[in-house]
Amino acid sequence: ETVTWEADAAEKGGYEHYMRKEIHEQPESLRQTIAGRLDVDAGDVELDVSFPPGFLADLEEIQIVACGTSNYAGRYAAQLFEELAGVRATVEIASEYEFGAGRTPDRTLVVAVTQSGETADTLGAVRRANAAGARTFAVTNTLGSTVTREVDGTAFIRAGPEIGVAATKTFASQVATLAMLAVAVGRDRGALAAADARSVLEDLQGLPGAVQQVLDEEPQVREAAREYRDSEAFFFVGRALGVPVALEGALKLKEISYDHAEGFAAGELKHGPLALVTPDTPVLAVLTDGARADETMNNVTEAQTRGAPALGCVSDGEEYNTLDVSFDVPDVGIVEPLVANVYLQLFAYHVANEKGRPIDKPRNLAKSVTVE
Ligand code: G6P
Repeated sequence: ETVTWEADAAEKGGYEHYMRKEIHEQPESLRQTIAGRLDVDAGDVELDVSFPPGFLADLEEIQIVACGTSNYAGRYAAQLFEELAGVRATVEIASEYEFGAGRTPDRTLVVAVTQSGETADTLGAVRRANAAGARTFAVTNTLGSTVTREVDGTAFIRAGPEIGVAATKTFASQVATLAMLAVAVGRDRGALAAADARSVLEDLQGLPGAVQQVLDEEPQVREAAREYRDSEAFFFVGRALGVPVALEGALKLKEISYDHAEGFAAGELKHGPLALVTPDTPVLAVLTDGARADETMNNVTEAQTRGAPALGCVSDGEEYNTLDVSFDVPDVGIVEPLVANVYLQLFAYHVANEKGRPIDKPRNLAKSVTVE
């Protein structure tokens, strides 16, 4: 028994759960994700991916297909593809795309985002795309995985093994990898000036350090988790790049704490969810660069008027005095919402931990879902 316990603890590097270990590994895993891939001076990336001549210039659409957390990484990325590469980008739930959702790909790059590379629904989506003659691409963590054998090209996220069922470090590395891909496509298409690319690459360079600064604030998050752990429900809101982060924040919390949590675009609060808002339903908001913070804060205020406590992830140097809790997000431009997400990961972890949930293996869930 003792031996088993020691081996287990050693593997977790002294952490009580893989999830917390993996949250804390993010500065290092992100360093691996970007290592040797950013050419800041040239304003370009070295991703080791190639496309047929003229393919990117001619591109009509990028279709991203993915499930769960990977789908939310895709939603973050779609906004980057539109902004940086000037190409329409749509995100489909893989189990829907597989059976016909989304337009039939034509002059389209289909990007499958999948940590494991084995998700049955995502493989099904890739197979539909291949059957339609589309060019397919995978963004995955897993060398030799099934998806890599079925696509035309792959970018590995290099996050290292993730054991906790709830995806954490792989989400961050997926977004970072997709951001690099967006720069590569934007530069190739002539849609992104070198100077603008440089500023994105500098944001990416700053990402590991910014995540470390958030991790150093963990005691503040634990305190907030203790204060709000017994709430009836939790609402996560954001705009623009804050939307996928709100969705991911809610997913993380429900997966491991079993509490009711919902994420949505902040502007939708008044179109329904507001009916559920009470002093017992905290609202967690992404209030950073890239997430239309002022407009989001207006929606948060609507919830506060109904008595809801409000917690916000706020860009360094900005201040919203009415927030009950304010988490400071370092200044890293386009990846600030991704850094804010680390606060939400820690919040989910500590709420679940306070409740004694089996964090690494939540009931009814699997790390990799290989059935449709
Ligand atoms: C499962 C996991 C999630 C993951 C999803 C997609 O539901 O529990 O954490 O986001 O599958 O997995 P993939 O390996 O395709 O990213």
